Amino acid sequence: MEFEAKNGHLMWDGCDTVTLAEKFGTPLYVFSQTMIEEKCQELKRDFVDKYKNVRVAFASKAFSTLAMLKIIQKQGFSLDVVSDGELYTAIKAAFSGEHIEMNGNNKSLEELEMALDYGVGRIIVDSLQEVDLIAGIAKEKQKVVDILFRITPEVNVQTHSFISTGQKDSKFGIPIDESILFPQIQHAIERPEVNFLGFHFHVGSQLFDNQSHLAAVEIALDLVKMVRERFDYTIKELNFGGGFGVRYTEADQPKPFSYFTDPMMEKVLAFCQKEHFPQPAVVIEPGRSIVAEAGISLHRIGAIKELPGLRKYVSIDGGMTDNIRPGLYEAKYTGVLANKAESAPAEKVTVSGKACESTDILVKDIELPTVETGDLFATFSTGAYGYSMASNYNKLAIPEVVLTKEGQAEIIVKRQTLDQIIQNEVVPGFLK
Ligand code: LLP
Repeated sequence: MEFEAKNGHLMWDGCDTVTLAEKFGTPLYVFSQTMIEEKCQELKRDFVDKYKNVRVAFASKAFSTLAMLKIIQKQGFSLDVVSDGELYTAIKAAFSGEHIEMNGNNKSLEELEMALDYGVGRIIVDSLQEVDLIAGIAKEKQKVVDILFRITPEVNVQTHSFISTGQKDSKFGIPIDESILFPQIQHAIERPEVNFLGFHFHVGSQLFDNQSHLAAVEIALDLVKMVRERFDYTIKELNFGGGFGVRYTEADQPKPFSYFTDPMMEKVLAFCQKEHFPQPAVVIEPGRSIVAEAGISLHRIGAIKELPGLRKYVSIDGGMTDNIRPGLYEAKYTGVLANKAESAPAEKVTVSGKACESTDILVKDIELPTVETGDLFATFSTGAYGYSMASNYNKLAIPEVVLTKEGQAEIIVKRQTLDQIIQNEVVPGFLK
């Protein structure tokens, strides 16, 4: 991986990572605002400013904090939320309601009420009961809600099966079956409390090939045509989800956004011209691709265990509790010794976490300079689904998060304290 080093130290957005670890402690997530903004600029240049009537909605599940949402809002992007907690974070960040889109395969009544009260711009319907549920709440609140249907386009996706979502046998979305989807469309068209805008799909995550997206776009466009033929109704919006892959290790060869968006738009525009259709709004929902590579994690090396002829384990002061992805998806990462960033590799080690779990291995067999207790290990590309999937397993505290911008660094999430870990626990009277 390419990185910048100065005086032997890994530099991140103009900050010396060794100094950051000393100042803020470890484990530490470090996010470069500069790098997040660079990704947003690329999206603006090659998508938002290039085409008419298109939007980017950041999938906040990848990294949802007040500061991150401020960055996204400043870019003029929309936001995808999937729960009361993500919506609450957006509300607290004063994210404008009309720019929020709500996804989720099992939205509760309370979540939908919260969404309507805040005036979220779109609700992406994911199940058959949902139209009536939304319409009922809307009627009570005397509102009309813009909705899309999330469909399962049934395309093959080349990614880990755990993060593949577009197949028919999925808990997400509504299958494109005559008897299932079409009655719902008719119902949505008829109910005055909902304004049926169009379709949404999300085929999967961490994709390097555009084929699944393009196949799904074709399926969505076929549906647009069918809706016009059957219901004499014009679809006004299509949402093509996220899923654009990023670089975790040298083996990953991510493509620019335009590799996905240009041919998708080409298909949409060609369809509209051929079928004499007004161009629908097109939305994409990238999460990982905006934030993954902008984030690194810093861990202090503690115990070193050499098993002669077998393996050398070097343990860090965190692990699966701040990055579950290796344990959950066998995700591969790479990193450097941040305090020996310019030293040549000298040994092969396995970087292991401190949770009581054999799968808590962060990086297997990585070449590093001679590792000593007290060294600082930096893992690259931990910005997406690292902090957002962190847990308190083994009652380890959720680490601090720092945002950097050209040499400045500020805390955006404070380190959880031990008191906070147990703050909601109660001992019942009969145990006292
Ligand atoms: N839109 C919808 C409806 C989604 O379900 C997702 C991700 C996204 C957008 C954003 O996808 P992205 O651009 O980040 O690939 N925890 C897993 C990833 C789960 C993704 C779930 N949905 C991981 O760490 O790989």
